[in-house]
Amino acid sequence: MSQLLHNPQYRKLALLAFVLVLGIGSAFISVQAQVLPYQDPALPIEARIEDLLARMTLEEKAGQMIQAERAASTAGEVKKYYLGSLLSGGGSAPHPNTPAGWCDMIDYFQKGAMATRLQIPLIYGIDAVHGHNNAKGAIMFPHNIGLGATGDFDLIRRIGAVTAKEVRATGIPWTFAPCIAVVHNPTWGRTYESPGEETDLVTKVSVAFTQGFQGEAIADLSRNDKIAACLKHYIGDGATDYGVNAGDANFTEEWMREVLLPPYIEGIKAGAQTVMISFNTINGLECHANGHIINDILKEELKFDGFVVTDWDGINDNGGSYRDCVKSAVNAGIDMIMVPNRWLECLKNIIDLTKKGEIAPERIDDAVRRILRVKFRLGLFERPYADRSLNDSFGSAEHRTVAREAVRKSLVLLKNDKKILPLPKTGKKIFVAGKNANDIGNQCGGWTIAWQGQSGNITPGVSILEGIKNTVAPGTVVNYDVGGKGAKGHDVAIVVIGETPYAESKGDDQLLDLDVEDRYALNNVKKSGVPTIVIIVSGRPLIVTDEIKNWRAVVAAWLPGTEGQGVADVIFGDYDFSGKLPITWPSTIKSPKEKPLFPFGFGLGYGVTK
Ligand code: GLC
Repeated sequence: MSQLLHNPQYRKLALLAFVLVLGIGSAFISVQAQVLPYQDPALPIEARIEDLLARMTLEEKAGQMIQAERAASTAGEVKKYYLGSLLSGGGSAPHPNTPAGWCDMIDYFQKGAMATRLQIPLIYGIDAVHGHNNAKGAIMFPHNIGLGATGDFDLIRRIGAVTAKEVRATGIPWTFAPCIAVVHNPTWGRTYESPGEETDLVTKVSVAFTQGFQGEAIADLSRNDKIAACLKHYIGDGATDYGVNAGDANFTEEWMREVLLPPYIEGIKAGAQTVMISFNTINGLECHANGHIINDILKEELKFDGFVVTDWDGINDNGGSYRDCVKSAVNAGIDMIMVPNRWLECLKNIIDLTKKGEIAPERIDDAVRRILRVKFRLGLFERPYADRSLNDSFGSAEHRTVAREAVRKSLVLLKNDKKILPLPKTGKKIFVAGKNANDIGNQCGGWTIAWQGQSGNITPGVSILEGIKNTVAPGTVVNYDVGGKGAKGHDVAIVVIGETPYAESKGDDQLLDLDVEDRYALNNVKKSGVPTIVIIVSGRPLIVTDEIKNWRAVVAAWLPGTEGQGVADVIFGDYDFSGKLPITWPSTIKSPKEKPLFPFGFGLGYGVTK
């Protein structure tokens, strides 16, 4: 070796090699050290968008417009096709379904995005519609119909903030909520996702949730405990004929502007970053192909500057070939396509349609500009990965307290003959019956752990029966029989009836009758002659006109979620009823609004008996 060093030729080569390595190394360091304008958080977001957009190829732009289901994609595909977004559909959870499991999954996909040439982070979306309801152990709040009954918009803001924390704790920066449907027919399977039938009420809920999820100012969005909201479903989801989900809605633009649009106008003013298009048609035209409501009204007139996302494969019914569907959707103003499985075909169509001039490049740029704007606002370029410091807040006692308050305030007292309520905590033998008395899954309803929800102990929580047992004085007898057998000899019977979980079209029901199981339990209790209190756990009013005369008291509990303790808090008098009907309670299904059993806004209290 030493002879080499004395060789002048070798020394020259060695020197050259050293200089070369040094040069490449410093060049590399300078490139690495050189932050491109779009990567500089000190620059205004609009400048960062324009710098990045100018660097993007058509393939990279089209990729941003695709939202695939996480179960139908890999990190490698996210990288290869520059995908802009992934989602978890209802129940699409990692194993283990824990905050760490969620964070690991999200970060796995995010690494694919961050391995692309321009390192544009993914935005991951999920239906956190009554808490982080896909995540086991999360707080499941009352569904929106119950929150509408509270009329407490500060509470709803706090629920949004708690939900945002729990969603971010799992690495997710975007929820497909709130649903701000103005429901017109309780036969609709998504009635419980609506805050109610009255425009002003729904509008206030829209603003409260947007502020809770996102914060009061756009700058708050980049906080590690805030998430992007999604106003949905635009527009007319709760106004279809006969309440058929995803059906035909027929109304004038004047009526739409008076009744359905205000929740969007005020939600956008509150800063909502995304809007989801609805499955229904308006006067025969698919919302996903309706340029007038999207381009003209939402973007031009309302100056909405976030992005518009479709519903699940929502473009498929736009008409013609699938290529035609993609074309009509993008040209109508849709920016991101939720295309869970056939996303590669959709992506290729966007690219081909643009190359052939059937989608203008300016339209693609508008879509991508909007998507990037939300990602920059969320701080995803600076912090693309999960912030695991929030894990401790997930499912915390503090969060459960907010949910218990919401349950209390959502309860509506419909009848209280001879003031049988509040019940004393001692001195009475209490009999409890009904399929919904001791079933966390039933009291949570749809969109809970699974898309359709599920009966049984599907996630940690307190059932209504457990809440009763927690509340009565030690030694007070509380007996339970789901079928109502054995009531005789008790001082009072509490029968908890209602619906079992459902979601979307599976919940469409043109009868709204009590089911056989409830009738069986009610009958058995009736035969005992024991004074009866009925608690209805359901996503909407049920037809009880013939039965209610047999009941001393009736409470509408809606779908209270995991904190069933809130029911006992009120029926034993620790708190008064304050809930008011957010929706007319019909006497017959044929005429929901005429001669109602109880009108919109009705609700008794311990001091209010009429
Ligand atoms: C569903 C629902 C929508 C939800 C989306 C993603 O079909 O209509 O509310 O956000 O798909 O799960």
